[in-house]
Amino acid sequence: MTTLKWWQTAVFYQIYPRSFADGNGDGIGDFQGIIEKLDYLADLGIDALWLSPHFPSPQADCGYDVADYCDVAPEYGTLAEFETFLEEAHARGIRVILDMVFNHTSEQHPWFLESKSSRDNPKRDWYVWRDGQIGPNGERLPPNNWESTFTGSAWEYDPTTDQYYYHFFLKEQPDLNWRNPEVRQAMWDAVRFWLDMGVDGYRLDAIGTIYEDPDMPDHEAGITLLDLYQMGQAAQTDAEREAVGEMWKALFIHQVDRDDEMHPLMKELRQVVDEYEDRVLVAEDEDIAYHGTGDDELHLVFNFPLMRREEPLTPAHIRANQAERLAELPEGAWPCNALGNHDSSRVKSRFGDGVHDDELARLSLALLLTLRGTPFLYNGEEIGIPNAVFTDVAQLRDTFALRQYEVAVNAGMPEEQAAAIVCARTRDRCRTPVQWANAPHAGFCPPDVEPWLPVQPNYAEGINVADQQADPNAMLNFYKRMLRMRKATPALIAGDYTPLLEDHAECFCFLRATPEQTCLVVLNFSAEAHTLAFEELAAQRLVFSNAARETPGDLAALDIAPFEIYIAEVT
Ligand code: GLC
Repeated sequence: MTTLKWWQTAVFYQIYPRSFADGNGDGIGDFQGIIEKLDYLADLGIDALWLSPHFPSPQADCGYDVADYCDVAPEYGTLAEFETFLEEAHARGIRVILDMVFNHTSEQHPWFLESKSSRDNPKRDWYVWRDGQIGPNGERLPPNNWESTFTGSAWEYDPTTDQYYYHFFLKEQPDLNWRNPEVRQAMWDAVRFWLDMGVDGYRLDAIGTIYEDPDMPDHEAGITLLDLYQMGQAAQTDAEREAVGEMWKALFIHQVDRDDEMHPLMKELRQVVDEYEDRVLVAEDEDIAYHGTGDDELHLVFNFPLMRREEPLTPAHIRANQAERLAELPEGAWPCNALGNHDSSRVKSRFGDGVHDDELARLSLALLLTLRGTPFLYNGEEIGIPNAVFTDVAQLRDTFALRQYEVAVNAGMPEEQAAAIVCARTRDRCRTPVQWANAPHAGFCPPDVEPWLPVQPNYAEGINVADQQADPNAMLNFYKRMLRMRKATPALIAGDYTPLLEDHAECFCFLRATPEQTCLVVLNFSAEAHTLAFEELAAQRLVFSNAARETPGDLAALDIAPFEIYIAEVT
């Protein structure tokens, strides 16, 4: 077998620290809690962790507003506890990557406090400051018509220095000025700080937003973000959703994806990371161009087009996605797939049809673990946590959702309607605490303590780790079986991908092959049984099936059960 890097063979698991495990009983997840669950994670069979931000933060955007890049949020623990966590993870063969938020800091970061203190402060130019405009009636206006992707103007007025600062996200998240070399050095120092400690790499937050057009021209999209939300809400088909996506690009055209500057910057970062042995960088971006010439920028970029769907996955969607992504990949680059994260709807709900959610969730795991590329899982998926149901905006902690609510109500939408929309769409729906047991608050925190976000009541209906450990048919044990199977099947990790039966509407069939091993994978996304003919292939060994099956069967007329996941070694 070709020698692959650890991050090419690994299965990653994303931990959302606030919701993963509460070790000190204050209703908020922490490092003590994570350390206590490392044996659980090792037993689950994952190889690496991606930790969402764990830095000190006022939590305006759940940690994506960093107030100190070289420390640990006090509610999560201490730097010493972080080091213990890292050692304990490594001792179990689990690697750890951190979430690096480059585009912006918290408004409470000392750099920003200095920057806003006066126009001639040495850190003034570390952020993006501009004069406002004077309107026709002498009123004060922002420098241009740019919006924040989290609602409202992208400019916030600062009365002390009578200028505006730019923020692509919340006003509590001022954008850094990456054209200032001091900013780059300060961020590279932060990158080195954790690499020196032994972390294995970074997930890079929102990198497409790092630079904006320095001339700052108005956009000419002719719409507002609020219009776009409404259109997004009304969109029914993939084509309509794509059209909304295109308009989003027009709205933010001057604010994102400045490729000419981004690629040199990513090369510079790669050189910093290459000072260390065997570390990895994965972009929160889908642009394959971030691989550079193959191996001189980022190691991995997410295949978001696969995941960006609000309805069950279909073989046609997956095939088209793979054909496009794999063809674009430069020589030496490696794919990376995820179906859920802390910003998306839960896999169990999004790819479910309301009737076969469990079967479809199992298929989504099978897909992730058999497609070519590094898979990323999100905490809670392994027990099939669905989207949380909220009934009141007061339950929400997702500031983005709360701002959307305000904007909608201010624009005249009835409160009830605005509340229903944000309760259904909020990112909090996938951020509720992990459900550990059938106990008050799902065993996440003590009975008399309120968790930071409500625990879903469905922990009492089997959606919890302890009950599922004891049930061989539960989702959790299915995850364990599949993860072990993948580890023991080199073709699924290293093999080439060849689609088969490309016209089949309900079964996604493909080969994964290394010189030593060829596997046939059949994923039946339908409630119908099918008989498939793979004339050229002969089955050698059944690798995995979730149907009642002991042998691989006759490939000239292979009976596939409803929702079957079938994997066989073939020649
Ligand atoms: C990324 C994060 C998201 C955050 C945003 C701003 O998209 O995944 O959670 O709100 O960046 O940092």
